[in-house]
Amino acid sequence: MTHFLALETSCDETAAAVFTDDLTVKSSVVASQHDLHTRFGGVVPEIASRAHLRNLLPVIDEAVRKAGITLADVGCVAVHNTPGLVGALLVGVTAAKTLSLALGVPLVAVNHVASHIYACRLAAGKDIFPCLGLVVSGGHTALFRCDTALSLELLGGTRDDAAGEAFDKVAAILGLGFPGGPAVEREAATGHPTAFPFPRAFADDARLEFSFSGLKTAVLYACHGQNVSNAAPPGPGQKRADLAASFQEAVVDALSLKCKQALRQTGLTRLAVGGGVSANKRLRMKLAEMCAKEGAELIIPPLSLCTDNAAMAALAVEKWKLGQFAPPELDAEPNFI
Ligand code: KG4
Ligand code: ZN
Repeated sequence: MTHFLALETSCDETAAAVFTDDLTVKSSVVASQHDLHTRFGGVVPEIASRAHLRNLLPVIDEAVRKAGITLADVGCVAVHNTPGLVGALLVGVTAAKTLSLALGVPLVAVNHVASHIYACRLAAGKDIFPCLGLVVSGGHTALFRCDTALSLELLGGTRDDAAGEAFDKVAAILGLGFPGGPAVEREAATGHPTAFPFPRAFADDARLEFSFSGLKTAVLYACHGQNVSNAAPPGPGQKRADLAASFQEAVVDALSLKCKQALRQTGLTRLAVGGGVSANKRLRMKLAEMCAKEGAELIIPPLSLCTDNAAMAALAVEKWKLGQFAPPELDAEPNFI
């Protein structure tokens, strides 16, 4: 049996995990940097890189200890080298290359977005391919045809903001703090989802694309009117809850509709959903209803596998089986490839 040590530093979580080649996750440790970024209302790349530098070695130590192994037992090192913040990615990539050289074991590079879908494979405990993959995170909102774990064909993405980014920006407009997704979801719990008729982009269109920037502006205008600049966020109350609920409903409707269209257009009968926004309970409920009606199987991982983590890098096992190792000069690649 081969033990894998995987690292994730693409954004603002420093994570390490140990898993085996039969996809048993032995440990998964995540150190969040949310507290460091809160007062800026978003992730500050330079601060993220420095925090990864401080946190990565203790996080690796903890993951190895919790797995009940030592570094000498590691037979392969895996790392997310794309996409993400380049300075943040570089910390994980450099650590992974160093470990692989020092331990004399192969290095496997995996794509963070593909790993978000692979989290569904881990959660399902069985093969899930071929499937339709929806990745909804802070940096990405995209639909993929996934014939295998390693062959993702992009069917459509967002024209502007990612869904998670929209949640974060609307949270800032409403004065709800960072990260925005969980805060907006909490606020929406006491609001009416139909109070504001916010737009659902491309709703009458067969194209599998998303757009959330118009929705974000619609929330801003509904909150402050059209000619207000630097207005103070609204205080607590029914209007704020209604804005949050109506915004959340618009995002969830758009995601659910495009998944339905993609299932019909591709003939695929399984939907795998990954990324931080898939932690949203309203989205989970709507997708479950839609899939039940369409006769499709829905796979959404537990919350710990939805937001950024290193266990989902178990996708590396698939590459390792094919001998697809990374060269010692592996680089960080910020853009999605
Ligand atoms: O996948 P992830 O942890 O990091 C990226 O790869 O971007 O996703 C983070 C995003 C953030 O924008 C955050 O606001 C959003 O996921 N998010 C949520 C929820 N939890 C996290 N959005 C909506 N509802 C949630 N419960
Ligand atoms: Zn992510």
